[in-house]
Amino acid sequence: MIKKILVTGANRGLGLGLVKKFLRNNEKVICTTRNISKSKELILCKEKYNDNLEICELDLLDKDSPNILSNFLGDETIDLFINNAGVIGHSAQHFKSVSSNNWLDVLKVNLIAPLLITQSIIKNIEKSSERKIYFISSKVGSIEDNKSGGMYIYRSSKTALNQVVKSLSIDLKPLGISVISLHPGWVRTEMGGPNALISVEESVNGMVDVISNTSIINSGQFINYDGTRLPW
Ligand SMILES: NC(=O)c1ccc[n+]([C@@H]2O[C@H](COP(=O)([O-])OP(=O)(O)OC[C@H]3O[C@@H](n4cnc5c(N)ncnc54)[C@H](OP(=O)(O)O)[C@@H]3O)[C@@H](O)[C@H]2O)c1
Repeated sequence: MIKKILVTGANRGLGLGLVKKFLRNNEKVICTTRNISKSKELILCKEKYNDNLEICELDLLDKDSPNILSNFLGDETIDLFINNAGVIGHSAQHFKSVSSNNWLDVLKVNLIAPLLITQSIIKNIEKSSERKIYFISSKVGSIEDNKSGGMYIYRSSKTALNQVVKSLSIDLKPLGISVISLHPGWVRTEMGGPNALISVEESVNGMVDVISNTSIINSGQFINYDGTRLPW
């Protein structure tokens, strides 16, 4: 049974959708946001669900973020950890327009911080009998699926994240911790835009089903929100 769930980047979009879904299911949730006072929807959730929601202020660009999260959790048990926070980077990502501008920040948020915060809180996950970690990646990071080129900054961050997921799945297997890369679909959020194919609710419902139906035997896989396997 899932007891406590940690979700990063919960102020809006998929992170907020996941938090609301888990709270409606009577789960206990710890979520992170960059600025609590500006996180109006999370404040409303806190008023409604009280002790079932804890909110940690965390900016993944802050190099101290692993310590901040670890200190916030203390010796809390985390059954399920969803690394959701992410950025797409600026719009100039075609071959002729891309520059180093902002690339490192995208790598920090999408790749480096997710690994380092996982490292800092692995003790909390080890305390659980569930031991599940999911990284919200993207099909755009799949090398085999890349048929349109471009998007150098975002693609490279998610491709590298997938490699991190694979290594983590191997390194954490002896601890019985499963590590899975999840594609949420193309979703109507600020990142996905209004023309995206599915709603936050459809994506979240699909991902929560995948989370329920996967375990250590699926560790090291790249899975779509509808449960199908994706090529690396
Ligand atoms: N939407 C899609 O179609 C789609 C497709 C494939 C993969 N994804 C992935 O799904 C995840 C969620 O995306 P989304 O569509 O929900 O995007 P979104 O609506 O843009 O939300 C992104 C979330 O990440 C947080 N965030 C950004 N920079 C951060 C930082 N430095 N430190 C901590 N948190 C930070 C944002 O916080 P603030 O609210 O404070 O800005 C926000 O809560 C991302 O990893 C994304 O790459 C999305």
